Amino acid sequence: MIVLGIESSCDDTGAAVVTEQKEILGEALQSQEEHKQYGGVVPEIAARAHLEHVDDIVSACLQRAHISLQDVDAVAASAGPGLIGGVVVGVMTAKAIALALNKPFVAVNHLEGHALCARIAHDIEFPYLLLLVSGGHCQILVVKNVGEYQRLGTTIDDAAGEAFDKVAKMLGLGYPGGPMIEKLAALGDNSRFSLPHPLSGSNDCNLSFSGLKTAVRKIISSYSPDGEIDSTLLPQQDIADICACFQTTATQCLTQKLERAIRYFKQNYPQGQHVVVSGGVAANTYLRGKLKELADKYDLEFAAPPIRFCTDNGVMVAWAGLERYRLGLTNELDFKPRPRWPLDETAPKAAGAGGVKA
Ligand code: KG4
Ligand code: ZN
Repeated sequence: MIVLGIESSCDDTGAAVVTEQKEILGEALQSQEEHKQYGGVVPEIAARAHLEHVDDIVSACLQRAHISLQDVDAVAASAGPGLIGGVVVGVMTAKAIALALNKPFVAVNHLEGHALCARIAHDIEFPYLLLLVSGGHCQILVVKNVGEYQRLGTTIDDAAGEAFDKVAKMLGLGYPGGPMIEKLAALGDNSRFSLPHPLSGSNDCNLSFSGLKTAVRKIISSYSPDGEIDSTLLPQQDIADICACFQTTATQCLTQKLERAIRYFKQNYPQGQHVVVSGGVAANTYLRGKLKELADKYDLEFAAPPIRFCTDNGVMVAWAGLERYRLGLTNELDFKPRPRWPLDETAPKAAGAGGVKA
């Protein structure tokens, strides 16, 4: 069984072909550089760039796999949530291939791509506990099966990756912010500034990063006589110290709520063995280390996709597409891309969803 997957929901145009035996036959990825100067993704620029590159990316991926489109059993695309202009490009490309070759089309929820991605690299059985941390989303979920999710907690404001990006922007570090913050944090003192842990006292698994970001803003503005945000006023070491403090505090916020979720998971899903982290922020080695310590404490296995598959890519879409296809979960060609598409929408409403008391 071979599935082609196309990713175009944000600023990465990706394609991959994977097999049921978990082989990645070929992949291609183009991360858009165009947004760097704006400090964030510009949807219109992203959509145009996807349109420009998607055919070449699909061709390159097939070439690397040494197969032709005829060899593919199904065609999948990220059909949301995401920036609709880009999503439409990937979905239309996948539908056109499916129609021309009379192959099934699979509409993949981008978040399900992140959620299932670790299973291509590791033997992870359902159910497992998932921390999904990306630029647009920040959730703690139980992955009960393909298409079956129980959301235990979510951010009430910014996503974790969004907070990394906003802090990086204030520090003049460019976009995306996560990798630069991680790099500089390694050179900084993570005890230099005391930062708040929003929602740490709340009796649920929800998260918040807005207050943390505001606290960083206050520190940066204190360097300017008129309270402006001007990163050029900060010595390099101070920038590194802020990065270290922010990364440590954001990680503590995540691990604290994940610990609560772990207790709930162990009680309600005693057969579950894995804690998984995925999404762009899961590329952060410091976070991965702390999550591993937490999983060890509760006698659970920690797993994460290889770092290059944490940020958006074609492999995660192809793999999620394959997982759906082999269960017969294909879609009609009139499927409408969905800018908003909660992962737990189709799951039965479970007790505690949206705010587990643990
Ligand atoms: O999953 P992703 O590629 O796109 C979305 O679906 O949103 O995630 C991108 C996010 C960005 O916010 C980026 O700053 C963050 O992941 N990110 C990181 C790291 N690498 C990427 N955050 C922290 N540490 C990293 N090493
Ligand atoms: Zn993503």
